[in-house]
Amino acid sequence: MNRRVAIIGGTGLSRLDDLRLTDEVCLNNPFGEPSSTVRKGLLSGREVLFLARHGDPHRIPPHKVNYRANLWALKEAGADVVLSVNAVGGIHPAMGTGHLCVPDQIVDYTWGRDSTFFETDLDFVTHIDFGQPYDESLRQTLVGVLERLSIDHSAHGTYGVTQGPRLETTAEIRRMEADGCDIVGMTAMPEAALARELGLPYVCLALVVNPAAGKAEGAITMADIEAVLSSGMEQIRSVLRTFVAEV
Ligand code: HPA
Repeated sequence: MNRRVAIIGGTGLSRLDDLRLTDEVCLNNPFGEPSSTVRKGLLSGREVLFLARHGDPHRIPPHKVNYRANLWALKEAGADVVLSVNAVGGIHPAMGTGHLCVPDQIVDYTWGRDSTFFETDLDFVTHIDFGQPYDESLRQTLVGVLERLSIDHSAHGTYGVTQGPRLETTAEIRRMEADGCDIVGMTAMPEAALARELGLPYVCLALVVNPAAGKAEGAITMADIEAVLSSGMEQIRSVLRTFVAEV
């Protein structure tokens, strides 16, 4: 049986234009307000769910996203698995602008975010296993799609998650590189851990939209990032269409 995929769209993907909308739900949520409604619809003939991480229009910065409300809303709306789309900076030389990465590891540098569902009213203390933060079978499916579509990608990578909303200093990126990070972004955590707490298999498709701080001459500008986002997201839309049909 096909599993229902929930897509969390990041920067540059506030809407799925090719989703044939069937319903839009805003459920009563014990964790507060999600970033957007959950849009239900058909993509490649499959029922999928879509949520805009930063709102639609884009208005919520990474450190203000209510990750718990978002994950809870998707689970409640019937998600079986989650595919997260994230715009990131490239640290490793292989992670050039426009490159796609399906990370397999995370280093979490965020702080002060509501990062667990297991906080109050506990009958017992819960520690989820998080050695492999992404679902390996979904990762393999996604990598297979990228291979078949002949899209330039890396099948592995470590995603370093910073607090934002500012970008990093060059020294911070140097430290992250020494820590083994290949890409840097602001939204993979606590999202991935919360999905695990809810028992939702979770995978990430990361689009490199700029060289990380100190990895290229000059400042990182939003104009440069936006140019990469618009062409990169077209490619991502085609990946999503194929992926949801295969899960
Ligand atoms: N750093 C952190 N987050 C990002 C970046 C970056 O360089 N690019 C896109 N999201």
